[in-house]
Amino acid sequence: MARIIAVANQKGGVGKTTTAINLSAALGVTQRRVLLVDMDPQGNATTGAGVDKDDVEYSVCDILLGTCECRDAILSPEHVKFDVLPGNGDLTAAEVKLMGQRGRERRLADALATIADNYDYIYIDCPPALNVLTLNAFVAANGVLIPMQCEYYALEGLSSLVRTIRQVQSSVNAGLEIEGILRTMFDGRNKLGHEVSAQLIEHFGSKVYRTIIPRNIRLAEAPSFGQPIVYYDKSSRGSIAHLALAGEIIRRESTRQDSDDATTAAAAETA
Ligand SMILES: Nc1ncnc2c1ncn2[C@@H]1O[C@H](COP(=O)(O)OP(=O)(O)OP(=O)(O)O)[C@@H](O)[C@H]1O
Ligand SMILES: [Mg+2]
Repeated sequence: MARIIAVANQKGGVGKTTTAINLSAALGVTQRRVLLVDMDPQGNATTGAGVDKDDVEYSVCDILLGTCECRDAILSPEHVKFDVLPGNGDLTAAEVKLMGQRGRERRLADALATIADNYDYIYIDCPPALNVLTLNAFVAANGVLIPMQCEYYALEGLSSLVRTIRQVQSSVNAGLEIEGILRTMFDGRNKLGHEVSAQLIEHFGSKVYRTIIPRNIRLAEAPSFGQPIVYYDKSSRGSIAHLALAGEIIRRESTRQDSDDATTAAAAETA
């Protein structure tokens, strides 16, 4: 059963899509089965994975509106080792059409449940808004990965995101957790960056990934070639950082599974 992660931050341009694509690719090259879901009408995750967003038969829009089966919309691009559930401008129409429909926030969750056994990880790239598309991602997910730039206003935005996650926990998805906070586009020469980074660790402790994604021009270039960084420039700092993040995530996962097994064993003993 896949671990489903929403990559979200309502602030624009913080590195959500870059994280979703490159983490999917990095986990793919380490032999994990990964699906990347593009929930953003901008379709940047789709394009960045090398798929023409305007030339797909079905997209995640069809999934939300129930006009196709989830498995029929999934693509397996030849040049990467992960699958893609494409998204494009049609998602804006889906948002409008879903308005007022019952159970509209569960559409993605229900669809992903039909294919989740085929994957180890499903990453959902969210739009820069806390709207019904992001809500669908939060209802479907086990965790939220929050990319953030270590800037002055970043922490302020983070508190409203954390509030939204708590609201979802207490209403539609009790299992939703903050998966991790990822420092992106980090510039080590910037004093403010180090200060915000220290505050983040003070507030969120081990939820902050140890891996930091540096500002790296190769990461910004890669999407225009439709290639994740591990293929575009394997030895770049951006590529090495995403492979390190994939390693950190895999290690965290095995620690979580060990502690789940211990809890199950303890419960069985008590029973
Ligand atoms: N580590 C990095 N180094 C250099 N450039 C980066 C890095 N991460 C992202 N970028 C660039 O910054 C811009 C914003 O990144 P990205 O699209 O991943 O953010 P986003 O949060 O998905 O944006 P949006 O909110 O619009 O969806 C892009 O042009 C991207 O190529
Ligand atoms: Mg994006």
